[in-house]
Amino acid sequence: MDLAPDQIVRLDESAPAVVLLDQRRLPGEVVELTCRTVPELAEAIRTLAVRGAPAIGVAAAYGLALAALRGDDLAEAERTLAASRPTAVNLFWALERLRDDPTPARARALHEKEVDRCRRMAAHAAELFAPNTRALTHCNAGGLATGGYGSAVGALRAAWERDRLEHVLVDETRPLLQGARLTAWELEQLGIPHAVIADSAAASMMARGDVDLIVTGADRIAANGDTANKIGTYSLAVLAKHHGIPFYVVAPSSTLDADTPTGASIPIEERDGSEITTRFAARNPAFDVTPRELITAIVTEDGAL
Ligand code: MRU
Repeated sequence: MDLAPDQIVRLDESAPAVVLLDQRRLPGEVVELTCRTVPELAEAIRTLAVRGAPAIGVAAAYGLALAALRGDDLAEAERTLAASRPTAVNLFWALERLRDDPTPARARALHEKEVDRCRRMAAHAAELFAPNTRALTHCNAGGLATGGYGSAVGALRAAWERDRLEHVLVDETRPLLQGARLTAWELEQLGIPHAVIADSAAASMMARGDVDLIVTGADRIAANGDTANKIGTYSLAVLAKHHGIPFYVVAPSSTLDADTPTGASIPIEERDGSEITTRFAARNPAFDVTPRELITAIVTEDGAL
């Protein structure tokens, strides 16, 4: 089964509302969340009811269209959405694109184009898979994260369709378990063989020769190629280098940030420590930056860089 883009996020003009598949409740419950106002949508983004860089951008585009339908102050709506999460550049990219024309048609076109980019980059990325590849992925870069089809998971499904993929190891992705909850659920729906591993098991899986390739999505790619993605991605890239395993980033061009020269200037979200433990003080950076020299190739809809 494949999730249709409008099952993941859509604008309901009659309500009006932005309707999301509530990713906080997956895989246990498949329920929708209806956001009737921009502050409600911004809270849904902040709390990861909708998440993943391209999907955040799509939701924000629908959010500005919702604000226009409601007759809200558009500058205020944009500020509220822009303050929801700092790292994924797709959020700011989408807001900029809707600013001059915050119509439902424009938001839907942005959504459609993102899904189309995913399909194109997945086809390019699948070419990098040798027959019988055993892949490893981190976090969730599936249809849930892009508004349809997926980036890293899109690459996995395109490789699976071309008979080049044998199996996927899915990092559970502490602390919010996007891998164990969302990627495993999506791979199950797609019928792709997989197994969830503790994040800390990735090193020994590589050492014993169980990983041929690593593929992840991205939240922001700086002008020099340094790439921000879910916390734990950088350590995977270091491990990949040590074990001589290719490390691929698959992301649409909406994730490229020409205005940020290097990874050092990418704003890294620090989330509440209570997502890790409520008993002790905790630090909870949600993303890290992988330096470009650890990345074998960045694959966009235009091909591999
Ligand atoms: O905190 P999240 O779940 O929004 O983080 C998502 C990721 O890190 C994804 O890997 C990234 O956004 C790419 S999604 C195609």
